[in-house]
Amino acid sequence: MTGFAVALVLVVAAAGLLRWRRPAWYWMTFGVTLASLRVLVRYATVMDACGLTVPPSRWRLALARATNRPAPESRPPRILLLRPTRTGLVLRLKLRPGQDAFDVAAASDRLRHSFSMYGVTSRELRSGVVEVRMTGYDVLKRVQMPAQTDTRPMRVPVALREDGSVHYRDYRAIPHALTLGATESGKSVYQRNLVAGLAAQDVALVGIDCKQGVELFPLARRFSALADNPDTAADLLDALVTRMGEVYQLIRAEQRITADVPDAEIAADIWDLPDHLRPTPVVVLVDEVAELALFASKEEEKRRDRIITALVRLAQLGRAAGIYLEICGQRFGSELGKGITMLRAQLTGRTAHRVNDETSANMAFGDISPDAVLAAIQIPAEMRGVAVAGDSTGGWHRIRAPHTTLRQAVNTCNRHADRTPDLPELAPFRPALPGTPAAPVPLSKAAPAAA
Ligand SMILES: Nc1ncnc2c1ncn2[C@@H]1O[C@H](COP(=O)(O)OP(=O)(O)OP(=O)(O)O)[C@@H](O)[C@H]1O
Ligand SMILES: [Mg+2]
Repeated sequence: MTGFAVALVLVVAAAGLLRWRRPAWYWMTFGVTLASLRVLVRYATVMDACGLTVPPSRWRLALARATNRPAPESRPPRILLLRPTRTGLVLRLKLRPGQDAFDVAAASDRLRHSFSMYGVTSRELRSGVVEVRMTGYDVLKRVQMPAQTDTRPMRVPVALREDGSVHYRDYRAIPHALTLGATESGKSVYQRNLVAGLAAQDVALVGIDCKQGVELFPLARRFSALADNPDTAADLLDALVTRMGEVYQLIRAEQRITADVPDAEIAADIWDLPDHLRPTPVVVLVDEVAELALFASKEEEKRRDRIITALVRLAQLGRAAGIYLEICGQRFGSELGKGITMLRAQLTGRTAHRVNDETSANMAFGDISPDAVLAAIQIPAEMRGVAVAGDSTGGWHRIRAPHTTLRQAVNTCNRHADRTPDLPELAPFRPALPGTPAAPVPLSKAAPAAA
């Protein structure tokens, strides 16, 4: 008996310690069983208390009366599925007549503490079926990506959502994106995760990092072109516009459409081409975009206009040619001059890290979702890397990328260095690295970028 008591105390102590120090392990060992039991046992009571039951139908009342049984009770939504996950539970519910998905969404906070879970979100899967996702602990506190993710070409897992699911950056669904955030809020770490995710894919990476290249140049072995100052960036963007024109010519030749059809009217994209003809897709990563839009002299103003025009053209026409923009900055508003709001309107994906004022949050979500603006302002300063990710459909999620260090990203890029494609148009901007063949002689006005 004493042995049993000692063992019990040890198990309880171990569970308590795990829950405190390693909530993810606690969830996998004890939490998931306890929470499943709790949900199943308390289900009817909690649903009743949260106002998610419907009174018995007339025919059930009539039947009870006819058979002289007690009056039937109100009924909660029927459980279609209860699935434990790595971070919580997924409950699929069939709503009763008269209920709607909004009722469940409105009650999610009540459900959260009634079931003693950390977070509860819900969404409608199809008419009358709602999925309630519950998390057992704060999954964003210490982000651990699942080992198995649904990675596909041009779709990389980049962060974890607060409901425990994986947040993907899907370039074919959302070609261009904007990432905003105050200084030290986690933009570059997010971008680093993207680079590490894309490194293993057949894609050309192009970087513009006007912070003297400190963020992207260490990853140079996986980059087909890099620029670390606005002058090189202007030439690089012009080269990309030229490449875009060439890709359109290729698509057009393949479609056998007459040569006088304007570029913008060509409906097909590179993904419609046969594999052997398809040009390599290009992801253009721009860190600290404001540096490209600032100027102090007439000469610099001309360069700025050239850069913004090229970016707007890439954002408008680049998708079909397989050129995708990923722009990061602290602010990206009309105060940066003409063309900026037009460019911003083309950047469908929006991610806002912690911002210092509402205006900055509005730059990301003002034209999309007022709720997301509020959520972005509320990100606490100590939770660096937490962001609100939305898109132009108005949906948004709180996400956090794993804390990939520069060393880890460099290792990943070096491991996949052999995948770096040599694009002839971008050859002058290929970073010269010790131990790799020298960059080909510049074909045009552009000067080679320094490593
Ligand atoms: N996802 C994350 N998880 C944990 N810590 C993070 C995360 N993202 C960022 N951090 C921490 O915040 C620090 C700053 O991040 P980062 O360099 O990405 O900020 P930034 O927004 O690019 O800042 P700046 O505008 O000054 O370049 C990192 O060194 C890291 O310690
Ligand atoms: Mg940065």
